[in-house]
Amino acid sequence: MTLLIQHGEIISDGQRYRADILVEGETIRRIGPDLEVPEGAQVIDASGKYIFPGFIDPHVHIHLPFMGTFAKDTHTTGSQAALIGGTTTFIEMLAPAGTEELASGWKTWTQMAEGHSASDYSFHLGVTRWDDETEATLRGLVAQGMKSFKVFLAYKGAFGIDDHALYQTLKLARELGVIVTAHCENAELVAELQQKLLAEGKTGPEWHEPSRPEAVEAEGTAHFATFLEMTGAKGYVVHLSNARALEAALKAKDRGVDLSVEVVIPHLLLDKTYAERPGVEGAKYVMSPPLRDKRNQDPLWEALERGQIDTVATDHCPFDVAQKHLGDDDFTRIPNGIPAIEDRVNLLYTYGVSRGRLSLERFVDAASTRAAQLFGLYPRKGTVQVGSDADLVIYDPAYRGTISTRTSHVNNDYSGFEGFEIDGRPSVVTVRGQVAVQDGAFVGDPARGQLLRR
Ligand code: URP
Ligand code: ZN
Ligand code: ZN
Ligand code: ZN
Repeated sequence: MTLLIQHGEIISDGQRYRADILVEGETIRRIGPDLEVPEGAQVIDASGKYIFPGFIDPHVHIHLPFMGTFAKDTHTTGSQAALIGGTTTFIEMLAPAGTEELASGWKTWTQMAEGHSASDYSFHLGVTRWDDETEATLRGLVAQGMKSFKVFLAYKGAFGIDDHALYQTLKLARELGVIVTAHCENAELVAELQQKLLAEGKTGPEWHEPSRPEAVEAEGTAHFATFLEMTGAKGYVVHLSNARALEAALKAKDRGVDLSVEVVIPHLLLDKTYAERPGVEGAKYVMSPPLRDKRNQDPLWEALERGQIDTVATDHCPFDVAQKHLGDDDFTRIPNGIPAIEDRVNLLYTYGVSRGRLSLERFVDAASTRAAQLFGLYPRKGTVQVGSDADLVIYDPAYRGTISTRTSHVNNDYSGFEGFEIDGRPSVVTVRGQVAVQDGAFVGDPARGQLLRR
């Protein structure tokens, strides 16, 4: 298979230029002006369009046990929705409930994904308990190319680990040269505040945010940074949501802690008033860390444009309306999460680039390249270069549309971004040289995705 993409404007690695791209098989073979059309090649005219490296979502939940229920997507639905939105690689949190052994979790997650993902994928290995067995499994899986861990400082009694387990995990990560991603909220404080609010009869979704306020996340972030400092490990704060936590992360970076920062699209665009809607309408917007006061959004956008925030992910985690009803009488029982895997790129492009908050170059860096670099995928992924995988997004900035659950491909019955306008969308997406998406429809091989060893 040979594919020639003509007349597009490539944006990659901080540069923008017009050139044609020749793809042979799965790989980019040539980039240059006016390339000759090889015999039998499929030709795509990208005039008036941008060509981006396939986008990478480094924080996704497809299969997730939570509050006795499971997130709704399958690897089939999640990966196809991702591709339609321009995401050609996702890294899923492999998060066994604390009672399940990691080796068994590895089997569960990989068997669910294998042969069912249309896009390439990898896993962060969730360390939800610490014992000899976990350590041995981690060593084995790192040797097989799974080079990132995930820890939860929150969710006491579920995914959360204590400081002993955190220290041991970071020590091992340092030894093996593995990056550790962390959900940073102080679990004890959350548990205490939840009990206090419930005892006061405060049971609605509007109390979710006050049960884990900004200070609790700032403490979690500083706490993680201190443990990184003491162990010399390399860390990555997931879904940082507020200015005070950002300050804690930047202070740590300033004193030389090897820490990167992720924000997720819900925190950039939605605020806590969504979760203050009564009943299940609010529950739809319950995630952790919670949607915050709107005043936090400007500092996050500004740090993102400066590159102090490294990546923009989704924390995609679809629970449907019936599942959100599980918390009708008690906000602590609402399954946490908001779906966004299909909409991240278009939302970041629209409210970042198109509406003037983010340069086109930083957009590509934050939504693709930086994740590839941090998680050992670069330059195979995250860049338009000769020799890289031909994961390409031909993006139409003239498209205008509106997000709606009626047109969404995620397996869920609501969208957190219902009615949001979008100023662009992918017109063609390729997965290792094969066209997978054409004008909003999946047209590819539903089983093309490979597990990426890093
Ligand atoms: O609310 C969220 N974020 N749900 C998924 C689990 C997690 O904390 O990432
Ligand atoms: Zn989390
Ligand atoms: Zn602490
Ligand atoms: Zn998450």
